[in-house]
Amino acid sequence: MALINLERVVERLSFLDPIADRLQSLIGQGLKEGGPTAQAAKDALNGTWLGHPLHPALTDVPIGAWTCSTMLDLLDHNRGGDLGRAADLLVGVGCASGLAAAASGAADWQDSYGPERRAGLAHALLNTGALGLFGGSLLLRLAGRRGSAKLPALLGYGLAATAAFLGGDLVFRMGTQVNRNAWAAGPSDWTEVAAQEEVREGELLRRAVGDSEVVLTRHGQTVIAVGAVCPHAGGPLEQGQVRDGRITCPWHGSRFELTTGRVCQGPASIALPVFETRINQQGRVEVRRAPQ
Ligand code: FES
Repeated sequence: MALINLERVVERLSFLDPIADRLQSLIGQGLKEGGPTAQAAKDALNGTWLGHPLHPALTDVPIGAWTCSTMLDLLDHNRGGDLGRAADLLVGVGCASGLAAAASGAADWQDSYGPERRAGLAHALLNTGALGLFGGSLLLRLAGRRGSAKLPALLGYGLAATAAFLGGDLVFRMGTQVNRNAWAAGPSDWTEVAAQEEVREGELLRRAVGDSEVVLTRHGQTVIAVGAVCPHAGGPLEQGQVRDGRITCPWHGSRFELTTGRVCQGPASIALPVFETRINQQGRVEVRRAPQ
């Protein structure tokens, strides 16, 4: 119950907003100055190569390592014993993987806004505190002071657990990084969506079809249809740009290959749904969901 109230408290922490503005502007500036290399690094951290956000996969490592190190610390009564040495190692693994998780989290957070941006920053600050405490604990262990290292580790674990709760809240309550097309299967049978002459090269036309929305465009004689909703955060792709066989989301600049839906540039990491198209005898465009 206390944790459930915590999420309400975080949403009211308006003093975090100027900090978030400043941080996002600094990261944005770094990306601009870093050019394609920085963008490629951000894409990698977003998980475009994985077809799935990278951050939730990485966070399992420090949480798992620190959970085990905390258990071992509690069981270790012999300061020179194997349990203590295993705890030391796991604290180190947690710190190293925590840095990687922080980098991927920052990459995702850079494209957030509103309440999720504030909750994301609170999540990051708690994790930074946890990393600092575990880092201090690691230094004490390296200095041979395992007995004194247990308290900061225990406090760090409390912060990490609270941050993990907020991370879960971001995904499961606020829908951050959830595929916006997860429940839109699209029609399995050919379904009419537009007159042939309405679909023009270089233009984007949005139409509803079954439980989905599609964006239509033309490449020569071929009509192309893809999902109209950006999987990253729901950007309206009909307001984006189409060029060189790719469509760019107007909100955060994710780019998708039109023929396959493959992500060419993040922050999206999940492919765009693609549809098969044909022209029927009445000269109207029909679509159906392409096999995945
Ligand atoms: S909504 Fe974020 S890139 Fe499309």
